[in-house]
Amino acid sequence: MPKARVLVFAGSLRTDSYNKKLAHVCAKAVEAGGGEATFLDLRDLALPVFDEDLETSQGQPAGNLKLKALMKSHDGFFISTPEYNSSIPGILKNTIDWASREVPDEKPLECFIGKVGALVSASPGALGGIRSLTVVRTILSHLQVLMIPEQLAVSKAHEAFNPDGTLKDARRQQTIESIAKRLVTTIEKLKA
Ligand code: FNR
Repeated sequence: MPKARVLVFAGSLRTDSYNKKLAHVCAKAVEAGGGEATFLDLRDLALPVFDEDLETSQGQPAGNLKLKALMKSHDGFFISTPEYNSSIPGILKNTIDWASREVPDEKPLECFIGKVGALVSASPGALGGIRSLTVVRTILSHLQVLMIPEQLAVSKAHEAFNPDGTLKDARRQQTIESIAKRLVTTIEKLKA
């Protein structure tokens, strides 16, 4: 059977983003769990703020075509997101909004329906960004992504990583591996 293909990205553009670090940990865990991970830096898409007038006059930006092709060629998503003002960062919502736009020869919500999603968050704060996870979970569920129930919120993210990007806390590492394994096996069962 072909490997489960998982697109891994963070809801942050920042170069030194804790969530990008955590996303890399997630990508390694997917590979360790028998899947194939592709890391996507949302900054590389250079998506404009969604504006229906812009879409009408100029069509889909190149970054959205790239994003949509990546989402369609993967079986699931592993997203690590910050929390902004107790909710989802604008960049992540903007990315989801662009991906939800239908292009010719595409089924409605083709980037989402039938995919499997897993979520983690990281924040320097005490709650680890957990409130953002509830919001992202709701949005992706409405878009008919099958969401893995387990999740992890990494609090005090500024103290959470070793210089090589690995997590200091073995229990957190185990939880990420367990989420990744559940994601990979769920995809495998759906494909079987
Ligand atoms: C934040 N931050 C934040 N943190 C948190 O735990 N709860 C919150 O509601 C917010 N709100 C918030 C709003 C805005 C506009 C910014 C810029 C930041 C802090 C945030 O967790 C911190 O900047 C993280 O480092 C962002 O994640 P990355 O970029 O490191 O992945």
